[in-house]
Amino acid sequence: MRAPVVFESRGPGETRRLGARLGRLLRSGDTVLLSGDLGAGKTVFVQGIARGMGFEGSVSSKSFVLMGEYQGRQCKLYHADLYRLEAPEQAEELAVDEYCADGVLVAEWPERALHVFAPERLHARFEVTGERGRRLTVEAEGERPRALLERLARRPRARR
Ligand SMILES: Nc1ncnc2c1ncn2[C@@H]1O[C@H](COP(=O)(O)OP(=O)(O)OP(=O)(O)O)[C@@H](O)[C@H]1O
Ligand SMILES: [Mg+2]
Repeated sequence: MRAPVVFESRGPGETRRLGARLGRLLRSGDTVLLSGDLGAGKTVFVQGIARGMGFEGSVSSKSFVLMGEYQGRQCKLYHADLYRLEAPEQAEELAVDEYCADGVLVAEWPERALHVFAPERLHARFEVTGERGRRLTVEAEGERPRALLERLARRPRARR
């Protein structure tokens, strides 16, 4: 694994735009894990990913549903939120690997059941740095995720 890449966001719009840039790069089979406290901006980032993938509708915060499904231009986006997962075994019923075969999988609160996700993945950790400030520290595991992260970082706002 190479060094993580750090992105600073100064408002929800920036987080959404960063997500949209990632969404344009993602394709079927990719996995993106999003960690961070309640209200850190994970769902805002997913809204951006969905937009970048060509989904026009709205992406909601999944309080009770574990998996949301959105049709993008090229493939589907599966949005998992494991916050309410009661036991890690429950995650197996989600059949995460099947979703991956058929689209992009993005998961909030992945630490509730880390073992179910593909080892090759992007992992973004969100921190609150101010009222509108958020820091995203992104790590990549595997060749394809590393290439994705490199492309995402190739912008002035990215700091290494
Ligand atoms: N820079 C920023 N990036 C993203 N969200 C921000 C930023 N600044 C302020 N916010 C606000 O923080 C909140 C983030 O909410 P969001 O639902 O995305 O959090 P979350 O990480 O998904 O939380 P949860 O774990 O509850 O699902 C929103 O109300 C958003 O407007
Ligand atoms: Mg959320």
